[in-house]
Amino acid sequence: MKTSRIAIAGFGGVGRATTSLLLSRRERYREVYGTDMRLVAVCGSRSGVKSADGLEEEQLSTLEDGLSGPAFIEESGADILIEAGPSDFRTGGPGLGYLHSSLSAGRDTIVISKGALVHSGRELRALAKGSGAMLKLSGAAAAALPTFDLVEHSLKGCEVLEVDGILNATTNYLLDAMTTRGIGFEEALREAQLGGFAEADPRNDTDGWDTACKLLILANFGLGADLTMSDLTVAGIQSVTAERIEAWRGQGLVPKLVGRLWRENGAIRAEVGIRTYPLADPLANIRGKDKAIRIVTDAMGETLAIGSGKEPLATAAAALKDLEHILAVRTV
Ligand code: HSE
Repeated sequence: MKTSRIAIAGFGGVGRATTSLLLSRRERYREVYGTDMRLVAVCGSRSGVKSADGLEEEQLSTLEDGLSGPAFIEESGADILIEAGPSDFRTGGPGLGYLHSSLSAGRDTIVISKGALVHSGRELRALAKGSGAMLKLSGAAAAALPTFDLVEHSLKGCEVLEVDGILNATTNYLLDAMTTRGIGFEEALREAQLGGFAEADPRNDTDGWDTACKLLILANFGLGADLTMSDLTVAGIQSVTAERIEAWRGQGLVPKLVGRLWRENGAIRAEVGIRTYPLADPLANIRGKDKAIRIVTDAMGETLAIGSGKEPLATAAAALKDLEHILAVRTV
């Protein structure tokens, strides 16, 4: 039987969920792909990583051990890296170092964090192409909501004309709570933080940056665009007041924070901001922390997908969907 050796970089909520799900699916990988899945290394930033369930001490390392980036991946002997740590879209770090090292060495690489893909997407794609590594990123572009899957598989061959995406759970939750329950921004934000889906710095959500990252990744990796953050107009929901919500309600309109893509003079354009939808529009009815995407194509008309996965399990499952795509190719 073949063996697949996995390393996971990043051991916060998503890294832990990915680890547990991976271990629970070992029998499936054996039966479906004929491969013995071995988790050979996990690297986290805190020593709490040592308490990981089901893992042996020697499988685990932390940044405190001095094994960051290339050293951790090289020492692990992994064939596949799952990158589940943080990365900043303004610098790419720290995730970029792991991705660089993994792809340069020809390891198939599954990316969950968005920042490095936004910051250095073109370079990472070139590295993967040069080394023959597979670069997969379903977990980085709205995770459980199918975005790539739609353009890469279901709508393949069609020209995507327009995309409207409610890609951020936190802002949808906030706007929905303010609109339907009449509660204030701060109170709704506290609920989102307690729910565990708001970012550590919630301005990434509320100011539109998380939506912008997901949109840009979809445009560049899914639709062949070459956009940088400076090509996007990005506005968030931070200035939405109860009075504004009331005025929209009076007009029968529902506000949503939306990432939009469209074509103009042959080029893909993108923006993030509030759009209002009439009550009869399906996007007006995306509730709570659900997400949704509407894609209009030349030949298949309009497609709508709604995602309601629970984090962090849903993101872990999106990353492991990528893993199965890799296994389907590598284990034949
Ligand atoms: N904070 C994000 C959201 C989850 O609210 O959708 C991670 O992308």
